[in-house]
Amino acid sequence: MLQIQRNVSLKNFNTFGVEANAAYFVEINHKDELAELFLDPQWKAMKTLVLGGGSNLLLVNDFDGLVIRINIRGIEHRINHNEVFIEAGAGEVWNDLVNFCVTRGYAGIENLSLIPGSVGASPVQNIGAYGVELQDVFFSCCAFEVATGQFKTFTKAGCKFGYRESIFKSELKDLYIIVSVKLQLSLIPHFNLNYGAIEQELANRGVTSPTIKDVSRVVSHIRVSKLPDPSTIGNAGSFFKNPVIDAKAFEIIQSKFPEIVNYPVGNHEVKLAAGWLIEQCGWKGKVVGHTGTWKNQALVLVNHGGATGLEVYTLSSQIIDSVYTKFGVMLQREVNIIG
Ligand code: EPU
Repeated sequence: MLQIQRNVSLKNFNTFGVEANAAYFVEINHKDELAELFLDPQWKAMKTLVLGGGSNLLLVNDFDGLVIRINIRGIEHRINHNEVFIEAGAGEVWNDLVNFCVTRGYAGIENLSLIPGSVGASPVQNIGAYGVELQDVFFSCCAFEVATGQFKTFTKAGCKFGYRESIFKSELKDLYIIVSVKLQLSLIPHFNLNYGAIEQELANRGVTSPTIKDVSRVVSHIRVSKLPDPSTIGNAGSFFKNPVIDAKAFEIIQSKFPEIVNYPVGNHEVKLAAGWLIEQCGWKGKVVGHTGTWKNQALVLVNHGGATGLEVYTLSSQIIDSVYTKFGVMLQREVNIIG
């Protein structure tokens, strides 16, 4: 029997650690409970918010609808020659899945070590780090369609992945709830070590032919040194996306700021490092009331304790304004703003 609770604090369900209340709250432990929940017209008609690890959202207000916390567990693996198919419940912690794979020698997600959040959230924003994105290993996912109560399988092509983008963030936003994710990994590693700091850190450790575990350890080490741990300092990782701009517009900016950090994307576009832009505007490590930007990575906004969602949101608006004034580039928030 589903337990619907009233007036529940979401403080422990968002990694920013901001205070906000949910009018109604339900935990889903099995995918069939979703069908049961939405059979009731009261819940079908209500505004809903699906929560995984709560690591990519900012609660600006109380939520006057139903919060659905997905806690569907289970990891299954099947080996076929050198291929490994892994299917995990949406409520599994992403990094637990990474560790499950790394310890068994299943290669493909070691660069995605220590990314906070749940497995179910991973396709929504096509999580990525250190030169690897979820789409590189994604096989399919199963999602519940709220309107029909049916489960549907989405292939990789069907998810329309992009940089921190998928169909679940755009066309199908709020229409489906992901219940499981299937990845295609390999027993033969194809390491992606190009991301400068990884090679450097392996060299520092004297590792010349790395194992999957070595890479996972090094990635974890780099993340810990750069990014704040949400269990002690509230945050949701990168608050903004790295902006991708037209190559011609880029040339104009570069003529004024020759040292601008940039990565060409094809022949006509350039990706800029939002952290660099923000730092150049003087925000890095700045404390503003209870909030601020992280001292080692200006792209991460933090809760120094007691911040409200509105305070963090207001700071993000100020940052957007100042980056726009200095560089003419409009930053987009990567974190979901709720309320
Ligand atoms: N930089 C600065 N100042 C800063 C931060 C960065 O000058 O305060 C410069 C760095 O020196 C570097 C460049 O910007 O030249 C890129 O920085 P970094 O390697 O830290 O990566 P990022 O582009 O800022 C992205 C992802 C991260 C991911 C890292 C590593 C986005 C929005 N963010 O950050 O993802 O961990 O690459 O792959 O794409 C997340 O999405 O929550 C996240 C943490």
